[in-house]
Amino acid sequence: MIDLRSDTVTRPSREMLEAMFSAKVGDDVFHDDPTVIMLEEKAACMLGKEAALFCPSGTMTNQIAVNIHTRPGDEVICHKHSHVYYYEGGSMMRNSGVSVCLLEGERGQISASDVAAHINPDTDVHRPVTTLVEVENTMNKGGGSVYKYESLKEIAKVCRDNNLKYHLDGARLFNALAETGESPEKYAQLFDSVSICLSKGLGAPIGSLIIGDRAFIKRARRVRKAFGGAMRQVGYIAAAGIYALDHNISRLKQDHIRACYLGNLLETMPYIDKVMPAETNILIFTLNVKYSDKDFLSELKEKDILAVPMGQRMVRFVTHLDFTDSMMMKVEEVLKSL
Ligand SMILES: Cc1ncc(COP(=O)(O)O)c(C=O)c1O
Repeated sequence: MIDLRSDTVTRPSREMLEAMFSAKVGDDVFHDDPTVIMLEEKAACMLGKEAALFCPSGTMTNQIAVNIHTRPGDEVICHKHSHVYYYEGGSMMRNSGVSVCLLEGERGQISASDVAAHINPDTDVHRPVTTLVEVENTMNKGGGSVYKYESLKEIAKVCRDNNLKYHLDGARLFNALAETGESPEKYAQLFDSVSICLSKGLGAPIGSLIIGDRAFIKRARRVRKAFGGAMRQVGYIAAAGIYALDHNISRLKQDHIRACYLGNLLETMPYIDKVMPAETNILIFTLNVKYSDKDFLSELKEKDILAVPMGQRMVRFVTHLDFTDSMMMKVEEVLKSL
């Protein structure tokens, strides 16, 4: 099978498994697992922040941030297609009792002027008070789109001027940076908290980090425990994360080139209505009347290719570490044969 459903489908390489096997571990709930501590310090340092906390998933790191930055009854501003709202099972409302103000915006991106226009001040008792703004970079449902640094900076200014917290869902931050060529620190400085995932483009089997200042991470440790995410000899998994940060960032651009190649190919296919230009490793395209997404996906599956539907005749391919050039040739052959 050629699996293009997500970049989460990768299996640890032999070298990553060796790093995991030889990890030194302790009990991370007692905060004495040396490999977890090493991973947390490394991630914090890479982003120029004071501290980090290792968690089982990107959903948990996002939801910990929401929980700390808000109080029940507050409002969070985010895009209507943001992962934190659209794909996390309603947990902002369930776990933190907040409401949301959902903004529109091309390819899943929100703008500073739109954020400013939707802030509810605490002087109006009728409306939920806005306390948090969340952005996602790259933007999954926006077809892996990359925010311009200046746009993120403008939103940061609106947050500062209005005393709002600012959280980045950077599940694929390193994919964004592979395109802009900018440093992680430069981006991280704009935000009160940043979530990064090791289990997406970076190829680790499990794990995400929430990153911020020391006081924030101290609170995050308590919330992680309350959410059931405190783990024990998890250094075995953290070792995969360290390996991923050391070895799998510099190759991300290859995934982007392959997604772009497939996007250009699809543009020329008679069954395609529209292709969102692939900015990173996510390629979303819309089928025309020749195919329903269900039929298209089952024909692909018969030919050993997996992808996911995105609604409204849209389909998503995600390129990743385990998707090779020879697989791409096979995908090309199949797409041309449909
Ligand atoms: C942008 C984004 N944020 C967060 C997550 C959540 O990560 P996890 O599946 O580890 O909960 C995902 C998962 O695909 C994602 O794409």
